Amino acid sequence: ERYKLWGGCFEEEPSAVLRRLNDSLGVDVRLFREDVRGSKAWATELHRSGHLTIEDYESIQHGLDKVEQEIEQELSSNGRLNDPEEDIHSVVERRLRAHAGEAALRLHTARSRNDQSATNTKLWMMSALGRAQSELLNLISVLLKRAQEDIDVIAPGYTHLQRAQPIRWSHFLMSYAWMFRDDVCRLDEQIGRLSSCPLGSGAIAGCALPIDRNRLAESLGFQNVTPNSMFAVGSRDHIVEFLNWSSLCGIHLSRLAEDLIIYSSQEFGIVQHSDQFSTGSSLMPQKRNPDGLELVRGAAGLLLGDSFSFCCILKGLPSTYNKDLQTDKEILFRSYDRLLDCLKVTAGTVSTMKINAKKAESLLEPGMLATDVAHWLVRRGVPFRRAHHLVGAALRRATALGLDLQLLPHAEYTNICAEFGSEKELREVFSWEASVEQYTSEGGTAKEALLLQMQQLQQWLHNY
Ligand code: ARG
Repeated sequence: ERYKLWGGCFEEEPSAVLRRLNDSLGVDVRLFREDVRGSKAWATELHRSGHLTIEDYESIQHGLDKVEQEIEQELSSNGRLNDPEEDIHSVVERRLRAHAGEAALRLHTARSRNDQSATNTKLWMMSALGRAQSELLNLISVLLKRAQEDIDVIAPGYTHLQRAQPIRWSHFLMSYAWMFRDDVCRLDEQIGRLSSCPLGSGAIAGCALPIDRNRLAESLGFQNVTPNSMFAVGSRDHIVEFLNWSSLCGIHLSRLAEDLIIYSSQEFGIVQHSDQFSTGSSLMPQKRNPDGLELVRGAAGLLLGDSFSFCCILKGLPSTYNKDLQTDKEILFRSYDRLLDCLKVTAGTVSTMKINAKKAESLLEPGMLATDVAHWLVRRGVPFRRAHHLVGAALRRATALGLDLQLLPHAEYTNICAEFGSEKELREVFSWEASVEQYTSEGGTAKEALLLQMQQLQQWLHNY
């Protein structure tokens, strides 16, 4: 027999198909610990306000502990609950009756599933978001470690995916490490806003019993209480914030994935992914495919879709609780699980990939030093715009002769402009190492500037 929290005024049972659409146990069972925790805190306040005798209070507390253990065991052996109830709140209350008897019928005094469900989700998020942050911090450490190891590798830097300027490979890795640092900070801001407790808001109007909401919130680890009961039961803004955050973090992961996919193609060959993070082909024996990264790239699309779906659910909803909101948990859990897997796969891929420094260097070509040649003229007093055109002319000449900038005879340079200077001096511009070492400004790709940003990020990680 299905234990129901409602139905006294109904003459008929809900239809089977409505039950199927309405039942949420398969999803919200994941909140059983939070449901028990919230219920224990609620029972404490009911007792303190004189609405539960000490005996009832104690049997509820013990009973809830038993219920939690039971569910934990059943989930670990079956992976699911076979209870016929519609949601986790009904399951906990029915099971509590078996342990605490009549006292169980007093637990829901002045409480609604509206404030209960909102509280459970927030409690879950407060710890889950912390776990997401740890995975992100791990990814940042992995990027930082690889940047430290491979600081001497010089590789082509691309804009528009066209060869742009030589950069240190570490500079590329660090560009992502900083992106993820910002993601960690954004999550912190959200966790702060998330930390207000809806419990005590009832279904819509608040709580008619003298409950100390602040004490209740504090006992559950919240920083404060929601300031308006209608806002509390109807808002899912914290979920929207998380989904938007996941989408942004997913975009960052996807861009990194795309770079590493490209760099591992035979045409680039700068990185080779480990066996652990590659897959093969059922037909072509030679294949080593970056499927993990491709799934990460695809996941960003799914994360964006989830945040868009959920906003569509909220748009135009009348205020306070409507059943449309029940879908929040399904979307939240699947986005969260997907994002965490992506963070782990990315960290694993980055920590195990091999860098082919020789190949990276072989992709550099003298045209990538055209900017440095222009700067060389600038140092000799030529206005930059003119220098840009003069080097352009040298490039045009080199192309016509089938040469590159480095092999263009010195006489060709001096024909274009006397400021190109002596052959010996001009030749010195053509060094990858010398090129990157010029970019010493803070945030630049010279070793000195790179060591500084690595130290800054390390310090941030250390203080975090
Ligand atoms: N399972 C529901 C949810 O998570 C609980 C709230 C139900 N409240 C209601 N008035 N039907 O959204």
